[in-house]
Amino acid sequence: MNCLRFIGIIAAVLSLAAVATGETDEQYHEWMLQSQAHLAASLENVETDPQRVAEAARGLQETFKQVEAFWLQRDAPLAQRFASSLLEGAAAVEKAASEGDTGELNRLLASRVRINCIRCHKAYRERSPEGGYRIKTPDPGR
Ligand code: HEC
Repeated sequence: MNCLRFIGIIAAVLSLAAVATGETDEQYHEWMLQSQAHLAASLENVETDPQRVAEAARGLQETFKQVEAFWLQRDAPLAQRFASSLLEGAAAVEKAASEGDTGELNRLLASRVRINCIRCHKAYRERSPEGGYRIKTPDPGR
């Protein structure tokens, strides 16, 4: 069998497996680390570089579109709402940053972005016996 064709078949099988099982908790953790980096970049640049804040807010939106889809797929409407509210907050941050409205940025980052990090962590994060945190089970939203 031609090598490229073989790779193509393997790739198709792997992507089918991904559809069957959904995104993993490891993937979720990656998104959380990305969120942390985007949030830090936003907070650090509020006073000095609104364009950088706008860019970080776009990064947050990209990450949280995936986070929202993850919870939708897990049928967890409460977590999905935190993710979608954060998405809207990040869009508002991007808009204010693009317009150079730095006065608004601290307020939006606290009241529309971080509040959702905090609320969701309170509801959906639990200590893992191996150290660190994991996704809480069963779904606390029910
Ligand atoms: C929809 C729910 C939800 C939202 C919103 C959310 N997180 Fe998380 N986060 C979790 C869960 C559940 C875990 C534990 C599982 C894991 O580590 O992947 C977690 C873990 C983390 C971790 C890993 C280390 C730790 O402290 O547990 C970081 C860092 C993190 N989140 C950052 C953020 C930041 C920053 C935001 C906001 C920009 C955010 N998260 C918003 C659910 C959420």
